Amino acid sequence: MKFLVTGGAGFIGGNFVHYMVDTYPEDEIVCLDLLTYAGNLETLKSVENKPNYKFVKGDIADRDFIFDLFKKEKFDVVVNFAAESHVDRSIENPEIFVKTNVMGTTTLLDASKEYGVKRYHQVSTDEVYGDLPLDRPDLFFTEETPLHTSSPYSSAKAAADLFVLAYQRTFGLPVTISRCSNNYGPYHFPEKLIPLMIARALDNESLPVYGKGDNVRDWLHVYDHCVAIDLIIRKGKDGEVYNVGGHNERTNLEVVKTILKALDRPESLINFVEDRKGHDMRYAIDPKKLETELGWKPKYNFDTGIQQTIQWYLDNKEWWQNILSGEYQEYFDKMYKEKGRI
Ligand code: NAD
Ligand code: DAU
Repeated sequence: MKFLVTGGAGFIGGNFVHYMVDTYPEDEIVCLDLLTYAGNLETLKSVENKPNYKFVKGDIADRDFIFDLFKKEKFDVVVNFAAESHVDRSIENPEIFVKTNVMGTTTLLDASKEYGVKRYHQVSTDEVYGDLPLDRPDLFFTEETPLHTSSPYSSAKAAADLFVLAYQRTFGLPVTISRCSNNYGPYHFPEKLIPLMIARALDNESLPVYGKGDNVRDWLHVYDHCVAIDLIIRKGKDGEVYNVGGHNERTNLEVVKTILKALDRPESLINFVEDRKGHDMRYAIDPKKLETELGWKPKYNFDTGIQQTIQWYLDNKEWWQNILSGEYQEYFDKMYKEKGRI
C-alpha cells in the first residue's frame, strides 16, 4: 500500500513515519510537509535513505500542488497530521489555523475523493470536546461528547472533523478520525509544556507555569498514539471516530515537579505566570471503544514514559538546542519576555 503522511516532519507525524517505515517495509511512505517553524528534517534523518520512504515539501492547502501530487502518486491511504498545533499561537494569530487546519483538510479531502483514496484518516484532538471541570473526576470524553471548543486551535480542528464526516456522508469517502489526548515523547517541539520545561530546567532557568498549575492533561506516549492510528487505519470502521488516551491524568504542576526531580533541580525554579486566555481546565479520555473494538492497549504509563523521554532529551541535546537557538527565540521573547512571564 502507498501512504501519504502529511505533517511528517513534526512531532507526532515524525514518530509515525519512523514507526511505519520500520514496521511495514513492504509499504511505501510518502511524507509531505511544508517545513513551517514546527517541521524539522533532522527528525527524519535516520529514515531518509530507506527504500520505502520519500519526502516531498509542500502545502496541504495548495490545491494545484496537492491535486498534481495525488494524480502522480496514486495514494491508497492518506493520514493527515499536518496542522498548526499550538494553542498559544492560535490565540495570537488565528487565521493561519483556519487556512492550514480547515482549508488544508478540505483540500486533502477533495483530492482523496477525486483520486479514489481507500482510506482518509484525520488526526484530531481531544480538545474538540472542550474541557471538564476539576471537581468531577468521574467525567470523561467519549466519542458521543458534544463538540464544544475553547481556542481558535481547537475550533479549527473541530471544523476540520466536521468536514471529514461530511465527506463520508455526502460523497461516500472512506474516512476515520482519531481524537487523542496530550502526547509526549521524542522529537516534541520545545514550545510545548514538557520539552520546554526539560530544556529550561537543564539550563537552570525559571519554569513558567500558567495560572496555578492545577490544569489537568491526560498524557499519552507518542508511540502508543502511532500504534492506535495504525490499528484504526487497518481495522477501524469507515465513518467512525475513535478516542485515544491511556488514563494518565496529571496536573501541570505534578508534571513540572516530576521533571525537576528527575533532573535534580530545585522546585524554586517554578514561576507561576499570567494564565493562558480561555485555558481549558481538564482533559480526560475514555478509550473504551478503541480498546474493546480494536484491541488497543498502551505500552507506556506516564511514570516510566516520562523518565525515558527525559533521557531522550538528555541524549539528543543537539536536536532541541538547534531549535532554541533559531527563529524560535523571537517567539519566546514575544510570548514570555514581553508578557512578563519570565
Ligand atoms: P507539530 O506542530 O509538531 O507538527 C505539525 C507539522 O505540520 C509540522 O511538521 C509542520 O511543518 C507541518 N505543517 C504545518 N502546516 C502545514 C501545511 N500547510 N502543509 C503541510 N505541512 C504543514 O504538531 P504535532 O504535535 O505533531 O501534531 C500533529 C497532529 O496531531 C495535529 O493535527 C494535531 O492537531 C494533532 N494532535 C496533537 C496532539 C499533541 O499532543 N501534540 C494531541 C492530539 C492530536
Ligand atoms: O490535548 C491534545 C492537545 O495537546 C493537542 O491537540 C495540541 O496540539 C497540543 O499542543 C496539546 O495542547 P495543550 O495546550 O494541552 O499543550 P501545551 O503543551 O501547550 O500545554 C500543556 C499545559 O501546560 C496547558 O495546560 C498549558 C500549560 N503550559 C504550557 C506552556 C507552553 C504552561 O503552564 N506553561 C507553558 O509555558
